[in-house]
Amino acid sequence: MGRNAETATSVAPARRFLQVLGGQALDPPPVWLMRQAGRYLPEYREVRAKAGGFLDLCYSPDLAAEVTLQPIRRYGFDAAILFSDILIVPDALGQGVRFVEGEGPRLDALTSAADIAKLDQAATAKKFSIICETVARLRSDLPPETALIGFCGAPWTVATYMIGGRGSPDQAKARLFAYREPEAFGRLMDTLVDVSVDYLSQQILAGADCVQIFDSWAGSLPDDEFARWVIGPTKRMVAALESRHQGIPVIGFPRGAGVNAARYVRETGVNAIGCDTAEPLGAMRNLAQMRRKGSGAIAAQGNLDPLLLVSGGEALDRRVEEILEAMDGLPFIFNLGHGIVPETPPDNVARLVARVRGNGV
Ligand code: CP3
Repeated sequence: MGRNAETATSVAPARRFLQVLGGQALDPPPVWLMRQAGRYLPEYREVRAKAGGFLDLCYSPDLAAEVTLQPIRRYGFDAAILFSDILIVPDALGQGVRFVEGEGPRLDALTSAADIAKLDQAATAKKFSIICETVARLRSDLPPETALIGFCGAPWTVATYMIGGRGSPDQAKARLFAYREPEAFGRLMDTLVDVSVDYLSQQILAGADCVQIFDSWAGSLPDDEFARWVIGPTKRMVAALESRHQGIPVIGFPRGAGVNAARYVRETGVNAIGCDTAEPLGAMRNLAQMRRKGSGAIAAQGNLDPLLLVSGGEALDRRVEEILEAMDGLPFIFNLGHGIVPETPPDNVARLVARVRGNGV
């Protein structure tokens, strides 16, 4: 691995991933996978067992950097994503967050305006600085040609966990809270916008080349609420990041946005849009032909079904070809339409990367 390779050269290395985020079309397209570090890798499970709890892993810069690097060593992805979680933000704000083995996250749910008022922005500094230590280590340990992605959850998606206390199929508690107490909910969103901008800004200062905003539950809102709680806060985040770090690329991932995806791109100001599995290839193509006000083309990222990566074989090969063909000549980053699942055979990932890069198999 090229330790400190970046500081050894005066010329910034060409990171293909960033060229595409700048609006270029590359053949083959750069490739990385959401949740590329994780339980499908035996080396991840080993480190995870050593770390104890999941949050302990996130807050151990040595171990978090190590698991971030594991998929880069195995597959040579064009980008690494900081190993962390979107629920670090509520944890840092002082809301109790636990990860229960085999069940997922559990939070002490916010149920009132008073609970929201208790969130402590000043408390976030200490925990964010630990995560940023991981970022700094990564930037020096990664090969110079590998881009480093920082990330956070979008305010809406993070709020669904903070109010629901756990993941849910319909985000009903957060939606109801937003209908019943729009002012208190708006204050929660304002807090999350502020804290998330600070958090991403610190990741950028520590060495992240770009950031992704995960809005995994963007698809659960009707269009007026989508505009208010998905587009509005994301737009404010993008503007704040742009003013603090001119030219820093932002990828938005409004999962399930469907026909609202183009509006999301137009109004939020993101540089790239992550497309989920259900996005038709023609629609993804149209998104990658949009332009950003005052600066270059929009890039699209996506959208292979994570279950095809579990099944593998010819069905996988066929779909990879279809996606590559549909996105040919456009600024495009190959990815999944949602995170990799733990049942994924690691060999299928190698096969996918080889196919995307035109190395047969
Ligand atoms: O490799 C990477 O992509 C970086 C790390 C990363 C994780 N979570 C690690 C993780 C990223 C980018 C996330 C994002 C995240 N976390 C999202 C948005 C993307 C999405 O998948 O929709 C959400 C909604 C979460 C919240 C979360 N974290 C849930 C619901 C769960 C439990 C479900 C599960 O997959 O276990 C987590 C836990 C989690 N985050 C794991 C990992 C590797 C598994 C925990 C473990 O190792 O025990």
